[in-house]
Amino acid sequence: MPTMRLQTLSLRVLLFLGLWQTGRRSLASAPELQEQPKKIAVVGAGIGGAATAYYLRQEFGPGVKIDVFEDGSVGGRLATVKIGDYEYETGGSVIHPLNLHMKHFVDKLGIPQRKDVPSKMAIFDGKHIVFEESDWFIVNFFRMLWRYGLNFLRMQMWVESVLDKFMRIYQYQQYGYSFSTVERLLHAMGGDSFLTLMNQTLEEAMMGEGFTQVFINDIVAPITRVNYGQSVRINGFVGAVSLAGADSGLWAVDGGNKKVCSGLLYNSKSELIPAKVTSISVKVRPSKRGTPVSLYEINYVDQSGAAHSLYDIVIVATPLHQGKSDITFSGFSPPIPSHYPGRYHQTVATLVHGLLNMSYLGTTEAASEFTVSDVLTTDSNGSIINSLSSLDPVHIPKGYKRPPASQANVWKVFSKKPLSQEQLENMFLSYDSVSETKWLAYPAYHPPHRQTPPFILHHRLYYLNAVEWAASAMEMSAIAARNVALLAHHRWHEETGKIDQEDLHTRLRGEL
Ligand SMILES: Cc1cc2nc3c(=O)[nH]c(=O)nc-3n(C[C@H](O)[C@H](O)[C@H](O)COP(=O)(O)OP(=O)(O)OC[C@H]3O[C@@H](n4cnc5c(N)ncnc54)[C@H](O)[C@@H]3O)c2cc1C
Ligand SMILES: *[C@@H]1O[C@H](CO)[C@@H](O)[C@H](O)[C@H]1NC(C)=O
Ligand SMILES: *[C@@H]1O[C@H](CO)[C@@H](O)[C@H](O)[C@H]1NC(C)=O
Ligand SMILES: *[C@@H]1O[C@H](CO)[C@@H](O)[C@H](O)[C@H]1NC(C)=O
Repeated sequence: MPTMRLQTLSLRVLLFLGLWQTGRRSLASAPELQEQPKKIAVVGAGIGGAATAYYLRQEFGPGVKIDVFEDGSVGGRLATVKIGDYEYETGGSVIHPLNLHMKHFVDKLGIPQRKDVPSKMAIFDGKHIVFEESDWFIVNFFRMLWRYGLNFLRMQMWVESVLDKFMRIYQYQQYGYSFSTVERLLHAMGGDSFLTLMNQTLEEAMMGEGFTQVFINDIVAPITRVNYGQSVRINGFVGAVSLAGADSGLWAVDGGNKKVCSGLLYNSKSELIPAKVTSISVKVRPSKRGTPVSLYEINYVDQSGAAHSLYDIVIVATPLHQGKSDITFSGFSPPIPSHYPGRYHQTVATLVHGLLNMSYLGTTEAASEFTVSDVLTTDSNGSIINSLSSLDPVHIPKGYKRPPASQANVWKVFSKKPLSQEQLENMFLSYDSVSETKWLAYPAYHPPHRQTPPFILHHRLYYLNAVEWAASAMEMSAIAARNVALLAHHRWHEETGKIDQEDLHTRLRGEL
């Protein structure tokens, strides 16, 4: 790994300089060239902020102090609620088997994956169940083939080809390459085809690939609705990510996905500061070498009141959008806005412990036979809900089996608006507990997209969540975290050769 080689090299140089300087007894003035940042701040302790702290430690070594500010709970959009004796995910829940950073985190932290419980899907059109997965793969296969011809197989191939290009990012990052904008990052992975995907709706992209409208309405729309609460008019890139989210082999973290966040903070030896960051301003100070350096002052409010602190590098790891954060940036030229254009889409997660009303799904199937785990919905006028899922706890107890619909169970309903009591009473024959979380969950995607916000807000001030405008997912935040940590490192040491390099795919071919 070249990054490693570079670090050992500079260590050797430092040692050499050190010895040489000791000989001349002037150690103090020696390593200005090698000077490391003293303090770095990360704003936000979701998976993005926690992963940033982890990668910053990796890049800058043990000497730098890393402070992570968090105003709510560690985990952010990864969160659980307790119902009865068990905890359940209310936010980000599943992880793709090829999400290599998330996999690396759980391996590194020694957290096991949650035990797998087989799942089964059905599609509800607002009146009836129009498709129900069989327990037999071969039956599903022929049913899909019968109804949709080769669309179904072609979809798997299409998603695979996108994923294939997506996976290139891991090699680039391993070699230490970083990108200054989301567009450049996407281009490095998939060339112009990824930028086109970003600028088209999923529907347009799939029609262009020859998929039928019926297939898009019946199968693709239910998947985008359950994963992003939106229609097939989201951008093609997030659409492909969403379809990959319907692959097999999806996993979750035993005990709750948010455990990765607290684990990474601990592992990175960073300090968690439970406070709300109110503003970030730039201060220019003269340096010993003469060239002025900029430092960032973070103003924050915690339980004991307002305070502030100075940092060499700051990474903002929360969306800069209305309703998500409210941070003022002062002293910057050109100015940095508190909120970028575009808005976040609301998804309400309602967890209900109760007995499902089978007639609500328009099915005459016996509840005792109904073992579907995920009811997806088509994009029809009447549909109030985006999905309805029978939920397994974050830790699967010994001998656990998902109960059929004839038994009281924990159900998760995703909807755009909060459910009224009347709606709940219609969906459930009876229930004894309801827990509602209103998420501003992910961007409202409306391609073609204007300029995506930059990763670099100022000299040494970075913005992780720009990446969500391509696609919002745990792994996307983790990829952006590694990218901004690398950017921060290379820009600090003025190693421009590792930033925005073109044609990496061909250049790195054969290097593995
Ligand atoms: C309902 C739902 C379902 C989802 N399903 C999936 C899924 O199945 N798989 C998947 O991969 N992804 C899923 N996602 C998306 C995924 O959860 C997010 O992309 C990811 O968690 C974003 O992480 P983040 O750290 O970038 O942002 P966040 O988790 O939002 O973290 C930002 C943090 O910053 C803090 N903060 C904000 N302002 C300030 C301030 N001024 N001072 C201090 N702290 C501040 C916030 O409190 C928050 O903790 C889902 C999201 C939702 C809402
Ligand atoms: C996306 O579309 C917008 C508006 O049509 C255009 O200005 C922009 O250049 C396009 N971007 C890419 C990457 O194709
Ligand atoms: C169950 O759902 C059906 C169809 O929506 C509705 O007519 C009926 O009233 C519901 N049953 C209960 C007990 O709410
Ligand atoms: C949905 O409802 C709106 C108004 O209520 C109507 O204009 C539109 O045609 C309907 N769409 C469908 C697909 O039924």
